[in-house]
Amino acid sequence: MNTKDLELALHAFPYPGLTRTLGELKLVSAVKVTANTAVIELLTVSDDSYLTLKNAILASFADVFATIEITKKKTVTKDTNYGNSAAPNNRAPYAKNIIAVTSGKGGVGKSTVSVNLAIALAQKGYKVGLLDADVYGPNVPRLTNTDLEKIKWNDANQIVPSENYGIKIMSVALTTPTSDTPLVWRSSVAVSALIQFLEDVAWGELDFMVIDMPPGTGDIQLTMAQELPITAGVIVTTPQLVASDDVSRAIRMFQDIHVPIAGLVENMSYFIAPDTKIRYDIFGSGGGKRLAQRYNIALLGQIPIDMQIREGSDNGEPPVALGSDTQKKYYQDIVQRMLEEIEFKL
Ligand SMILES: Nc1ncnc2c1ncn2[C@@H]1O[C@H](COP(=O)(O)OP(=O)(O)OP(=O)(O)O)[C@@H](O)[C@H]1O
Ligand SMILES: [Mg+2]
Repeated sequence: MNTKDLELALHAFPYPGLTRTLGELKLVSAVKVTANTAVIELLTVSDDSYLTLKNAILASFADVFATIEITKKKTVTKDTNYGNSAAPNNRAPYAKNIIAVTSGKGGVGKSTVSVNLAIALAQKGYKVGLLDADVYGPNVPRLTNTDLEKIKWNDANQIVPSENYGIKIMSVALTTPTSDTPLVWRSSVAVSALIQFLEDVAWGELDFMVIDMPPGTGDIQLTMAQELPITAGVIVTTPQLVASDDVSRAIRMFQDIHVPIAGLVENMSYFIAPDTKIRYDIFGSGGGKRLAQRYNIALLGQIPIDMQIREGSDNGEPPVALGSDTQKKYYQDIVQRMLEEIEFKL
């Protein structure tokens, strides 16, 4: 097999568990065959997919070559994507601590966790602001029952944040005619709006600014990391996603930009039948714990799938404020662990 043959073979090689090939996924960056040796460079993003792929290729071509050297291309994404985030600006000098709540994926409960953590911090007597950085899908106003509020300005020409459940809240939804008005902004405009929400909002002095991040690891996450000295990141995941590249990406993004990770919240972790009180580990158990161990981060807590959490949240009645004692405790315990995990400035 010469270089060309191996290139073609790798191009048609299916990614383990997927129907797509390495060629389609553009995962091979260099191939070279000399005598009995194959040298292959892969372009995978995460270490997980690199190892999966490396093992699959080694197994398939072991009979063909005496030696197969597989390496992972060192990507420059860190510099190009995260720019000067190692020495970020500080657009929010009024906040002693900034907590970014994120996950690689949508719909895992970032907003619900952000809202309830922010309120749990306020319940401990801290001054807390909650910034909804999900410009294209702002949910915080609905979750905090502030969705009918409209933007107000004070005499100093600053935006007055909404307030409910003891926290100050700012969301792009405040500035639109209705909270479900779709935004068709370019990402540069979205980013400027967020910067305005940091600079031109009358937050007052804050002990904590909690940021509900949009799903993914894109422009907005990048801007936040560049414009704010984020004190700690909280990663939200669900048991099904624990093993996925998306969560690893979110964890690695924080690690790349040198933001300490307070820990992992496993949301929708298990289900307790309301009638029989029997616990069902619908998606298996132990995933969050294993993930936390692998990245050496704390498992801050596990929150079950709970119909009242969903109903309360979607009605603007956060479980940590208006739920049962059990529900309150899920979030309060997470906040307690978080405060133990990171040395916040207080
Ligand atoms: N522990 C839970 N039990 C039941 N439902 C939950 C739980 N946590 C969140 N939910 C519900 O799941 C849905 C998604 O939650 P949420 O909006 O917080 O996710 P998200 O990660 O912020 O989503 P997006 O990526 O769209 O911003 C909501 O309807 C919410 O009420
Ligand atoms: Mg959300």
